Amino acid sequence: MQKQALEGVRVLDIATVIAAPWAAGLLADFGAEVIKVEMTGRGDAFRAMGPLKDGKSIRWPSMGRNKKSVTLDFHYEEGKQLFLDLVKKSDVVIENFKTGTLEKWGIGVEKMREVNPDIIVTHVTGYGQTGPYRKLAGLGTPLQAFSGYTYMQGYPDRPPVSPPFALADYVAGLYAAFGTMMALYHRDALKGKPQEIDVSLYEGIFRMEEAMVAEYDLMGKIRQRSPMPSGASCPIGTFETGDNKYVIIVCSTNPVFEHLCDAMEKREEWLPKYALAKDRLADPKPIMDAVTAWVKDHTFDELKEKCSKAGVPISTIYNIKDCFEDPQYQARHDIVDVPCEEFGHVKMPGIVPVLSETPGSIRWPGQKLGSANEEVYGKLLGLSEEKLQELKDKKII
Ligand SMILES: CC(C)(COP(=O)(O)OP(=O)(O)OC[C@H]1O[C@@H](n2cnc3c(N)ncnc32)[C@H](O)[C@@H]1OP(=O)(O)O)[C@@H](O)C(=O)NCCC(=O)NCCS
Repeated sequence: MQKQALEGVRVLDIATVIAAPWAAGLLADFGAEVIKVEMTGRGDAFRAMGPLKDGKSIRWPSMGRNKKSVTLDFHYEEGKQLFLDLVKKSDVVIENFKTGTLEKWGIGVEKMREVNPDIIVTHVTGYGQTGPYRKLAGLGTPLQAFSGYTYMQGYPDRPPVSPPFALADYVAGLYAAFGTMMALYHRDALKGKPQEIDVSLYEGIFRMEEAMVAEYDLMGKIRQRSPMPSGASCPIGTFETGDNKYVIIVCSTNPVFEHLCDAMEKREEWLPKYALAKDRLADPKPIMDAVTAWVKDHTFDELKEKCSKAGVPISTIYNIKDCFEDPQYQARHDIVDVPCEEFGHVKMPGIVPVLSETPGSIRWPGQKLGSANEEVYGKLLGLSEEKLQELKDKKII
């Protein structure tokens, strides 16, 4: 069988909820052996989070996919020792307890390094491991507000709106996976020191706010709420078609604007007058009005044909059903049907990104709590059946 990109990398995911476990899940998609360590008897809080169907989490099969679920309670001395035994045999620990919790339990990074000097530790917290807020609890939606993002989303005459799903958490998860991969490369390929990766829930989003940072710094401008990026491109917006669909058209580059001139048969009227973005941004109204009228005068299919032929990116605004039914999604296996015990079958997003030689795979859906106890504690750590039973009886695993 073809090797996977991360074969041989063992990750202990001792984290909960979304950001940090999702980072571990990305590594698992590409072949890392991810051991998901969960609180005995209760499991990751995510297992109980909605949406629920028949009382069961519909998101767990995807969030837990490709991971081996073991139970372990860090409150017990024997639990801590078992954790350190697992650390000894692992490359990476991904955790998201509040800053100081692992130290309070006596199993912080220093202790981990005593048993495995090469261990890489990725921390996800609300505010990071340093600074005055380092010890505060964090969840994605408030931290998104802290990042400056929520303030800008919505309409200027209405209150700000949060995104309808946990955007900051998933973005933080991406940075956590990225940081972990860099630390692995630095340790293994460059023979460097093992590192700690410090990810907060707000900085991933803030890192993307380049325009707003420069705008405030150089022009003193505080970007206000707007349903579209403002000041970047013209035309830009949500337009309504003749058959009452909303489409997005954005001319971010000058060549795309020229293509739009071709699609609208406006080349002679608009070029070279509006060839450069600065001239369009100085006088956006005539262009925006003309695009609004042109879109209204066409059905979406007509627009799609004209824009696609000319090289102008255009899309209607999809809901999840549209995504399910679109041939592009189907061709790229973006939605994968996975058999699972809880629901029979469940669909989940496919593997991203697409790697040519080691494309990753969904090998199994989120496991029942403690499904891999025998495999991990028995085979990996070599505990006897009697010892396993004793640990279960004491509720340590
Ligand atoms: C999510 C969060 C708010 C939860 O806070 P919290 O549960 O009050 O506090 P801690 O992070 O210190 O975690 C300690 C708790 O973890 C739980 N826990 C989870 N797995 C455990 C395990 N294997 N063994 C022991 N306790 C475990 C226990 O309930 C424990 O609380 P207790 O000691 O009072 O029994 C906090 O962990 C946090 O801010 N994390 C960082 C940001 C983050 O990732 N948030 C989620 C974004 S998706």
